[in-house]
Amino acid sequence: MDNIVVEGGARLNGVIAISGAKNAALPLMIASLLTDEPLILENVPHLADVELLIRILTNHGVDYHVEGKRHGQNGTEGRTIHFRAGQIVDTIAPYEFVSRMRASFWVIGPLLARMHKARVSLPGGCSIGTRPVDLFIDSLEALGAKMNVDGGYVVAEAPGGLKGATYRFPKVSVGATHVAMMAATLAEGRTELENAAREPEIADLARCLNAMGARISGAGTSTITIDGVAALGGTRHRVLPDRIETGTYAMAVAMAGGDVMLEGAEAGLIESPIAVLRQTGVEIEERNDGIRVARNGAGIRPVDVTTEPYPGFPTDLQAQLMALMTCAEGTSHITETIFENRFMHVQELARLGARINLDGQTAIVEGVPRLKGAPVMATDLRASVSLVIAGLAAEGETTVSRVYHLDRGFERLEAKLGGVGAKIRRVTV
Ligand code: EPZ
Repeated sequence: MDNIVVEGGARLNGVIAISGAKNAALPLMIASLLTDEPLILENVPHLADVELLIRILTNHGVDYHVEGKRHGQNGTEGRTIHFRAGQIVDTIAPYEFVSRMRASFWVIGPLLARMHKARVSLPGGCSIGTRPVDLFIDSLEALGAKMNVDGGYVVAEAPGGLKGATYRFPKVSVGATHVAMMAATLAEGRTELENAAREPEIADLARCLNAMGARISGAGTSTITIDGVAALGGTRHRVLPDRIETGTYAMAVAMAGGDVMLEGAEAGLIESPIAVLRQTGVEIEERNDGIRVARNGAGIRPVDVTTEPYPGFPTDLQAQLMALMTCAEGTSHITETIFENRFMHVQELARLGARINLDGQTAIVEGVPRLKGAPVMATDLRASVSLVIAGLAAEGETTVSRVYHLDRGFERLEAKLGGVGAKIRRVTV
């Protein structure tokens, strides 16, 4: 197992290339199940979650190959992967896969839409909350599927195919919106999804599905209308840049100080985090080719932030912001409203000398002048990276164990941070 060792104190200067978004790539890859024609995805990040999903899709009958590097392409660019589900050979997604990554549960939508049946294990994933699947079951039931839970599996059947319907999500869910939208593309008639999630990754999936022949409008707003079609075809689609990776590195620069260009980042995808970072005193310049982030000498001002569905402040940046606030000049309040158990980084940050008290879903963070390096343990993907960020500013050495969490969602983290001057290395223990 690997550890990441960070020697704090180095300022960050230079360029970091932002990868394709993990949370866009995963549903796009799953969409390949909807057609027997090739779906070619560009800018797919090289991550453990992507590799695992490839294995899962292969199990359902998807063939894939990675396009060779072309002349002029530099090594930091994501890969282009061809997916083709010529024939679905298995509509069962087994526990051994789905328990390791929640997003793999989402295959239920395309399998049901195309094959009229699916048997998918109840999911696992990061331990950040109970994360039920009721919204998936209810929305697919609204589209005419018979849904049952049997022996740890969700069993979905729609012998005559799915039928368009109006469904209002009682709660905003990214995954359930992705799945209902994918399923409705092949349903008979019109589907209207109300109170849908508005995340940019949903709009990205809709763009890709429309290029495959789907008729979706309103994705990116809270009402999505889908007119079902008989079949979808193939297309070539570029995965949008990772807004969480962008925000994470922006916070790393804010924490360590310095001046870094986040190449390929899109400011329009992270307006709320940019506004928060500006409040903390960080300088942010939005450019055509990316975002420049700088903090030179100024102290970090405290902020009060509540996580919300998009376009609010993302839960996936909550831990990173908390790391930054541990060194703010004053007290900040960070409230988590999306997941009930997403504060596992608090006790680890405390090992580095952070002063954080929890009051229900709010963390009260009292800034300290300096953190001190210590051994800490990664608990989930975003929590892990918050410990790396904290380590960048801590005095001495911070060792983050259980790095496999990081590898699920951050492409070449130590190379990217090392490339701008961070003293960071991976050691195999
Ligand atoms: C997506 O997860 C992301 N994952 C998460 O990123 C992200 O934290 C989350 O959206 C919120 O933005 C991917 O895109 C692959 P939800 P998802 O359904 O779809 C509750 C990361 O670090 N809920 O929007 O699973 C649920 O428990 C990951 O990259 C139900 O109650 O999140 C939560 O409280 C972690 N019933 C809330 O909705 C359901 O049937 C929002 O979850 C489904 C969800």
